[in-house]
Parts: sequence; C-alpha cells; structure tokens
Amino acid sequence: MAYAVELSGEHPKLARAEAAAAARALGGAPVNADLERVQLEAIELEADTFAVRCSRLTEAHGAELAETIEREVGQALSDQADVDLDEPEAVVRVLLDNEAVVGVEAATIDRASHEERHVEERPDHSPVTLHPRLARALVNLTEVPEGGRLWDPFAGTGGLAVEAALIGADTLASDLDEDMVEATQSTLEHFEATGAVVQGDFQDVADAVGFVDGIATDPPYGRASKTHDEERQDLFERFLAVAAGSLDASDRLVVVLPDPELADLAPLTLEVVETFEWYVHGSLTRHIFVFERRAGH
Ligand SMILES: C[S@@+](CC[C@H](N)C(=O)[O-])C[C@H]1O[C@@H](n2cnc3c(N)ncnc32)[C@H](O)[C@@H]1O
Repeated sequence: MAYAVELSGEHPKLARAEAAAAARALGGAPVNADLERVQLEAIELEADTFAVRCSRLTEAHGAELAETIEREVGQALSDQADVDLDEPEAVVRVLLDNEAVVGVEAATIDRASHEERHVEERPDHSPVTLHPRLARALVNLTEVPEGGRLWDPFAGTGGLAVEAALIGADTLASDLDEDMVEATQSTLEHFEATGAVVQGDFQDVADAVGFVDGIATDPPYGRASKTHDEERQDLFERFLAVAAGSLDASDRLVVVLPDPELADLAPLTLEVVETFEWYVHGSLTRHIFVFERRAGH
C-alpha cells in the first residue's frame, strides 16, 4: 500500500524529513518515486457516500481546473457511492502538483490538538519551552518506533516527553532540577500520558539506564534556561559523548543547538545526517541537528 502525505507549508524541509522519518519508524520506506499510474476505477470507496476534494499544491493550476477534476473524478466514482459534500463517509483526495495523486483519505492531522498542548495550557509554564509542533517533529525525527525507548535528558517542563509518550514511545524524561522533574510529571499527568521521570545529571541517568533507542532533547542554551553553572561548551561536549555512548549503531540523537558550531564537539561516532533552522527571534535561531550513531567506540 502506498500513502501520499500532504505537508503543511510551515517549514517544508523539516516537514518532509519528519514525514520520511515517521514512515521509516512505522516500517515503511519513503519514496520520491514516480507513482504508478492507476485507473480511477481501481479506487475502492467502501462507503455509501463520498466527496472529492482537490488541493492545488502549486499556483500554476487555477481553481477552475481543481473544480473540473473534482467533478470528473466524482463522476468516475459515482457508480460506487453517492456524492455527499457535507458529511461524506469517504473523502477522495486529489493532490494536484505537476502530476495528480488520487486516493481515499486515510487520516488527517488535527493541528489544533497541538495548540492544546501549548505551554500556556500546561500546569507549569516555562519561557524556554518548544512549541508542541516542533517538539513532535523532533520526536518523529528520532525514528523511534512504537514501544521503543526515547529519552529526553534535559526535560524541562516536559514538552518533548509528552509528545514522545503520545506517539507510543517508552518515554524516559530526566532533568537535574527537581522542580523541572515535578513539572514534567505534572505535564504528563495533565495530558494523560505515561512516562518515567527521573531526577539527575544526564551522565548519571545514562549510567543507570544504559542503552536507549533514540534521544530527542533541547539542552540549556546558556541564557534563560540554566546550565547549572557548567560552561556551555563543556556541557555540550560532555553531553554529546554521553549520547553517543547511550545509542546503538544507526540510532538517532535529535538535538537543538543554540549555535551550530557546538555540533563540532560531537565524537566521531555521531554523524550529522540532517540539519534544520527554526527562527525564533532576532537573537535566537534554534539549530536542529539529527545525528546518527555510527558503529565503533
Ligand atoms: C532548555 S531547558 C529544556 C526545555 C524543555 N525542552 C521544555 O520543553 O520545557 C534545559 C533544561 O536542562 C536542565 N539541565 C541543565 N543542566 C543539566 C544537566 N547537567 N543534566 C540534566 N539536566 C540539566 C535544566 O534544569 C533545564 O530544565
């Protein structure tokens, strides 16, 4: 079965990588391939009513073309079910780019649900927390499958931990600060999500828990969020070594860096596979680095 994913226009590079990573985590293989041509008649609606909705992915096609396609696809499928534009049981989607991809809608993302987990809706506020959509993207980029162990060693108020728990990862969140541990615990409880929350320096936690399947984390930037008196450079160097030692070959570390040069502190066993920039304001751009653990010591 092939699935087409319609991405939001918000951060196309990150969204594309996130969708590909999620596909791999589910055991699939992302392709940019030429799609096989299918006959419309090969589409099975398995519903009594349907509607056709065409999205124009480029400005090159006018609204009239989209309407014509909706009408003609509707016509071609009308022997299988009745058209109901208001409450259809099945939605046939046409994604119109240079080619048209046609299929029955399998799922939609409720983007508003991310806003419900926005920091203002959480029991403990923190000025440095990530937006839930970015947190979810970082978690997906780890490619940790359902049931796999995903660790956030700088959990703060638990923004990443809650997203990890909601995708079904075996979530481990830790933080040096006792108040932050409590904050993560209450965030998880507030959203009825389950995860283990531990207090401690990341190095001690790593020694105690051993290997994990992926790490997604937002370490302190050395400004608003505390580094607990450790020099930023030292903290990142120590952390990158610990992360490499906590992952098996080909597992991933997804980390937010306040300065891309900090990535140079990574040991040779961590290879950069993707990078993204997330502009926050004039003096803060988050640099998202995806590292893959290579074999070796
Ligand atoms: C940027 S905040 C994390 C924000 C988090 N992503 C969120 O959404 O709330 C960084 C966290 O790292 C913690 N921290 C600093 N040094 C640490 C260390 N050595 N070990 C573990 N946690 C540490 C701080 O207590 C702080 O909560």
